[in-house]
Amino acid sequence: MTSEKRVLLIISGGIAAYKALELIRRLREQTIKVRCILTKAGAEFVTPLSLSALSEDTVYGELFSLTDEAAMGHIQLSRDADLLVVAPATADILAKMAQGRADDLATTALLATDKPVLVAPAMNVRMWEHAATQDNLATLRRRGVFSIGPTEGDMACGEFGYGRLAEPGDILNAITGFFADRGRLAGHRALVTSGPTHEPIDPVRYIANRSSGRQGHAVAEALSRMGAETTLVSGPSQLPDPAGTRVIKVETAEQMLTACRAALPADVAVCAAAVADWRVDNAAAQKLKKDGGAVPQLSLTANPDILASLSANGNDRPRLVIGFAAETQDVVELARAKRLRKGCDWILANDVSPGSGTFGGTDNLVHLIRADGVETWPRMSKNDVATRLAREVAQNLNDEQG
Ligand code: C5P
Repeated sequence: MTSEKRVLLIISGGIAAYKALELIRRLREQTIKVRCILTKAGAEFVTPLSLSALSEDTVYGELFSLTDEAAMGHIQLSRDADLLVVAPATADILAKMAQGRADDLATTALLATDKPVLVAPAMNVRMWEHAATQDNLATLRRRGVFSIGPTEGDMACGEFGYGRLAEPGDILNAITGFFADRGRLAGHRALVTSGPTHEPIDPVRYIANRSSGRQGHAVAEALSRMGAETTLVSGPSQLPDPAGTRVIKVETAEQMLTACRAALPADVAVCAAAVADWRVDNAAAQKLKKDGGAVPQLSLTANPDILASLSANGNDRPRLVIGFAAETQDVVELARAKRLRKGCDWILANDVSPGSGTFGGTDNLVHLIRADGVETWPRMSKNDVATRLAREVAQNLNDEQG
């Protein structure tokens, strides 16, 4: 599947640059063509000679090199690949990419390209956690750049935390997965709900839950990456907008339902939002005061069930409607019953019992429940759950079509 694919690998200056050598070797094993750009700082860590030997190609480094420019102009270099990969991506190159700077060959190629870009950040944990880096990455992701890692562990600088370059095998999988998935959902429309909802008590207080939106956002991004025209309807979340999606931000369950209806028709709907079951039906127009000592009496009313509503939507019903079930006990049994009750096609059931780390965490353990059975997936990141679900969706929609 991945033969004849071309990667432009940009190696920026970090101690992890040596891992690029392994990555090139593994890509070549898959018969993926690799051409390298080595930044000036990158050349402090690996030599052009070793990159050239492994990639069996010229290594480019200079923006103003007459010989390089004559053989392969920098614009052509940036377009002559199917995918640009920046590994390792330092805080500096992420900042330059976010700003759109083009002061060397690597950043010029990144600005001039019309191809997808994957970054694999690697840096000191404090640099990674710095708001500037996080903002830069959020900006890049919004523009469609996708990323892998960093991972957590001991760092060359003696500190511990997030900042290690993803392992070459994982970067390789992201690259081969990219090639395999590209275009799988082209021509399909997807609708995804994500995040919590906020149900006002008064203008400053609300009822909410602990959902981070990670799983739903990841699903939207995966569907979009596979070519689906994706609308994400999201409750309040700290997460950056997923690449390539149309994002509609809402606060309450009622707003979420209205936005979902407006986003139809869709071929697939994935309801990953943790919608509040109840809203306050006597929400105050002004901030409630504690003067006088009387405790306000909140009266609750049921919110609309968006998943059930989309599942029952008559002519507008998406061909495939998928829900999530967060349970703390009898996960599969309760989720099976929920699938029938809601009228959806599939349910992804996950264990959110205290200690499972699912809510707000990066990993998830899910069971995919369909009419014909249950499939338990190994514990994996929410991004991997999203990719696997998107592949199942693609298979289902394409099978049905065929
Ligand atoms: O009933 P419960 O909240 O456990 O169901 C979870 C599933 O239903 C999730 O897919 C969630 O997004 C969806 N849901 C919804 N609207 C609601 C409640 C849940 O779409 N009001």
